[in-house]
Amino acid sequence: MTLKQALNRTREIFVANNIADARLESELLLRHTLNISQTQLYIDINQELSPEQEKAFWHLVKRRLNGEPTVYITGHREFYGLDFYVDPNVLIPRPESELLVEKALKLAQHQPGVTIAEIGTGCGAIAISLALNLPQAKIYATDISAPALKVARANCQKHGVLNRVRLLLGDMLDSLPQPVDLIVANLPYVKESELLAQFPVSSEPRLALNGGPDGLERIRQLCRQLNGKLRPEGYLLLEIGQGQETAVTTFLSNLLPSAEIEVTPDLSGIDRVVSLHLT
Ligand SMILES: C[S@@+](CC[C@H](N)C(=O)[O-])C[C@H]1O[C@@H](n2cnc3c(N)ncnc32)[C@H](O)[C@@H]1O
Repeated sequence: MTLKQALNRTREIFVANNIADARLESELLLRHTLNISQTQLYIDINQELSPEQEKAFWHLVKRRLNGEPTVYITGHREFYGLDFYVDPNVLIPRPESELLVEKALKLAQHQPGVTIAEIGTGCGAIAISLALNLPQAKIYATDISAPALKVARANCQKHGVLNRVRLLLGDMLDSLPQPVDLIVANLPYVKESELLAQFPVSSEPRLALNGGPDGLERIRQLCRQLNGKLRPEGYLLLEIGQGQETAVTTFLSNLLPSAEIEVTPDLSGIDRVVSLHLT
């Protein structure tokens, strides 16, 4: 069987099994099996697979059909133009979270010694993207999950920022050793009752998704701890889920009446980031 035939066959199987992006997923699995780039895949497209390669490839296809996300099978996810290692201990970073990075960079780029904390870092994608784009910033990245922090550590090492991103195990802001200028967080915000409906076959950690009865429990928990952890004039950037903007901004303006609050939509037009500026 040639690479092309393997791809076509897999795409048909994925389509028949309602797997979105069937073509892309087939390519990622084949490239992972053969350990080749996309360009090499197209150069070799009419080459024959060896029996061992075929066996290894169909094994991965079977894992995908059993519900394992391709990203966990390959161990790679691109975020903000960078390659991150991911496994089932961490949420798979979503493209819409790149907005948090963009907003944070805009706020921090003219403050050389800025201190930033990313809360709930997961695989570290946000904190590491910030560290690489803000060479003089001091960055903390926290998570309550020790296995997630292990993944973040591996990614810090991979991107050469282990000495710049301080990884802290702890609940929300508890482990932060000093007040910071900017807090960035993509906390779990899915309603508990919607978890199964939204993620029926997900192997992502529930700890990374479950936002409690109304989805906002973790966000409220973080905001209630801001006092003494966010410097005067500091900023908070929170990723939120679709339809949560009014509840979050109302909560924040009651908690911190003098703060400036703004909501920014993502590329799909969904209100995605709530920014708060202490004044
Ligand atoms: C939605 S995931 C975001 C992961 C990563 N920042 C990203 O955007 O891909 C939320 C993360 O928050 C962590 N988390 C959940 N509860 C927490 C808490 N009380 N304190 C700190 N981190 C928490 C989870 O372990 C998970 O890694």
